[in-house]
Amino acid sequence: MSQPAPRQAALAHLAALAGRPGGRRITPLFDADPERARKFSASLDDLTLDFSKSAIDRDALDALFALADAVDLEGFRRRLFAGEMVNATEHRAAMHMALRSPREAGLKAALASGIDDASKLAVAERNRMRGFVTAIHEGSQRGASGERLTHVVNIGIGGSDLGPRVATEGLTIGRTDARMEARFLSNVDGHGFEAALAGLDPARTLFLVASKTFTTLETQTNAHAARAWLVAKLGESAVGRHFAALSTNLKAVGEFGIAPERTFGFRDWVGGRYSLWSAIGLPIALAIGSDGFRRMLAGAHAMDEHFRTAPLERNLPVRIGLLDVWYRNFHRFTSRSIAPYHSALKRVPAYLQQLEMESNGKQVDAGGQPLPFGTSPVLWGEPGTNGQHAYFQMLHQGTDATPLEFVAVRDASHDLEGHHNKLLANALAQAQALMQGKADAGGHKNFPGNRPSTFFVFEKLTPEALGAFLAMYEHRVFTSGALWGINSFDQWGVELGKVLAKDIEPRLTSGDATGLDASTAGLMARLRPL
Ligand code: F6P
Repeated sequence: MSQPAPRQAALAHLAALAGRPGGRRITPLFDADPERARKFSASLDDLTLDFSKSAIDRDALDALFALADAVDLEGFRRRLFAGEMVNATEHRAAMHMALRSPREAGLKAALASGIDDASKLAVAERNRMRGFVTAIHEGSQRGASGERLTHVVNIGIGGSDLGPRVATEGLTIGRTDARMEARFLSNVDGHGFEAALAGLDPARTLFLVASKTFTTLETQTNAHAARAWLVAKLGESAVGRHFAALSTNLKAVGEFGIAPERTFGFRDWVGGRYSLWSAIGLPIALAIGSDGFRRMLAGAHAMDEHFRTAPLERNLPVRIGLLDVWYRNFHRFTSRSIAPYHSALKRVPAYLQQLEMESNGKQVDAGGQPLPFGTSPVLWGEPGTNGQHAYFQMLHQGTDATPLEFVAVRDASHDLEGHHNKLLANALAQAQALMQGKADAGGHKNFPGNRPSTFFVFEKLTPEALGAFLAMYEHRVFTSGALWGINSFDQWGVELGKVLAKDIEPRLTSGDATGLDASTAGLMARLRPL
């Protein structure tokens, strides 16, 4: 339990440190400590974090550790890994770590309805997935007309799209060894449907309906449209061989017409945005092979073990999570930009938006009491160098400072001469320019500098490194959420809009505007089909 007095003392100390005159300049920190670059870096296997260009010094970091002690971060971490019901509003544990544990490690998860043997379930389902993937790859499972299945379309949204998409793209773009071509269909916008299926041969296409609840409007609409598309070309009897489901709602899957042997399940203790490690990861395994998928799980597991056992002082997700709190609450930064300097990681900002903003975009604490401080920042970004030629102007010279997070990979997986060094030089130069700035009396050409950044470096974009990076991010979000005292595992904020959309949809046909506000009624009139 948190102790109010030490917590208040730690907060007051942090506020005092943040208010020190000149205490926010970054470059003098390097003069004061020649070892800073080393001390403010940490590595785990092939992933390195360098946060030496952050606006933080040793005193502030120590004060953040004191705050972590005062709120009992270690207790939060212990309860998470013990499978306790940390998601109280949904009466669930959050045991996605069990999904990447290499064996039946005896991990349990508490649910309103009882206790699940989380690791046993995870291992059993992983083995079923492996069998299915092998059968597709080796051709013992084929399409209805006897052809090999060469393309997979994942139909899902939010966590049932972003995680598998980021991992699949991350481990296939720019490479030639993909086992199947994977496509992702998420939005209910029919223009996206056309694009996702363009050029596909139905006889060689496998659809995965990925939905934890199996009730999500977008996914249901797209799944039924895909079914109709397939039936129009191959007939009703083909559905069984061209569809599989990834879901917790086995009853609804059955009603859709997908057989149990083609349904891969997981439990409620896997949150949507934490689900790529579960059956939701099937498109990853189909695209890169089951061994690659296992390697990704192994990288994530190594990060879990590090987060679970390393002292807070040397704990990579903890250190960066504390920095997030420092920035949000003591520097009052409201956003953070992400710049992956690797095309295969182009959707990482979108994935992180869901992970962090859906987890920590909360205004009340875990007990439902209003919070008197800011929580999740806005996350946004584009791959470098594209962003440099768009919004970096604002990052360098705008009136607000926005911390920038670079993600770079040392080894390229292409052999085009010169490209990779140019790419990396740009990332390094941008971080340097943001921090150092450049004085110019003329005003327009003045760079104020002192703009903080952090740098993640992958040795190579391997499944292990990507798994570790994504798991690091999950634990980082957990850390800041714990310091803020919020439930990082629910997402009630997405519900109201869904309910209102259900009310509006029939009105678009009927034109009935009764009870709508004038603005919505006017817009609806403009948008109604002619
Ligand atoms: O609307 C938000 C959300 O509930 C996410 O949390 C989730 O990842 C997504 O929708 C998709 O949900 P499902 O997997 O149940 O279709």
